Amino acid sequence: MTTETHATAAASGAGATAQFRETKKFSGDTSKQRVATLASRVINSINETVRQEKVTYDEYNALKAWLIRVGEDGEWPLFLDVWVEHSVEEVANANRHGSKGTIEGPYYVPDAPVQNTPATLPMRDDEPGTALLFQGQVCNTAGEALPGALIELWHADDLGFYSQFAPGLPQWNLRGAIIADKHGNFQINTIQPAPYQIPTDGACGALISAAGWHAWRPAHIHLKISALGHQLITTQLYFQGDEHVADDIASAVKPELILAPTERSDGNGREVTYDFVLDPQN
Ligand code: DHB
Ligand code: FE
Repeated sequence: MTTETHATAAASGAGATAQFRETKKFSGDTSKQRVATLASRVINSINETVRQEKVTYDEYNALKAWLIRVGEDGEWPLFLDVWVEHSVEEVANANRHGSKGTIEGPYYVPDAPVQNTPATLPMRDDEPGTALLFQGQVCNTAGEALPGALIELWHADDLGFYSQFAPGLPQWNLRGAIIADKHGNFQINTIQPAPYQIPTDGACGALISAAGWHAWRPAHIHLKISALGHQLITTQLYFQGDEHVADDIASAVKPELILAPTERSDGNGREVTYDFVLDPQN
């Protein structure tokens, strides 16, 4: 039987590439001048690196081979989301006053099953991992509750794998969209995700081992929070005490995004409260 532990870089890369092509909209009307500015700056910084580091033909050809492999493995979404998206997010949300956002990463799938609060994320009968009750309230920047706000969340399982990107997992496992109540409150039952290792058997994994880096992201819950008339927040929440919070390979951790769950008094796993503040639509 093929289970999630048989996940390969090529298969999850192909999934992330297909997901990107199907769902990410962009205007494609960037002006010639803007394209020229951005492309020249990127090309110039590569040329500067070549000159300053006196890059050899051997190194140049190794780079060429590696870039070709990133494409063949379908790992461009992974590469860009790990090493570039964090600065794009920082620029995009620099003027927000509400809750902090961070990178989306390659594994969001729209249109997860919708439920009203209180809700339990779709999971297997014997889903491994510590139960986690995640609850909170969605408000605007004036502190007013946002009734019916939508909390979309998705996260890895207790082995660090995402449904739809690793084999053998039910389609919507640990993915959901929960509608807050009339006070903007939500209560979501799930399990605590495990730290996630980006695939080590593809081009990105080869770079990581050649450079002597590690491939870990701290355990995290991905979220998109939205409400009518407000700016959508894409974010992630992490867990205090996770050793990779301090050295996330994707540079996506912010101090405001670290949870400290407590043991539940009924012995039923852990619980944590986190409130979201949305900026008005501009
Ligand atoms: C990647 C995976 C993630 O789960 C994430 O949150 C960010 C990046 C990746 O493999 O690129
Ligand atoms: Fe992730």
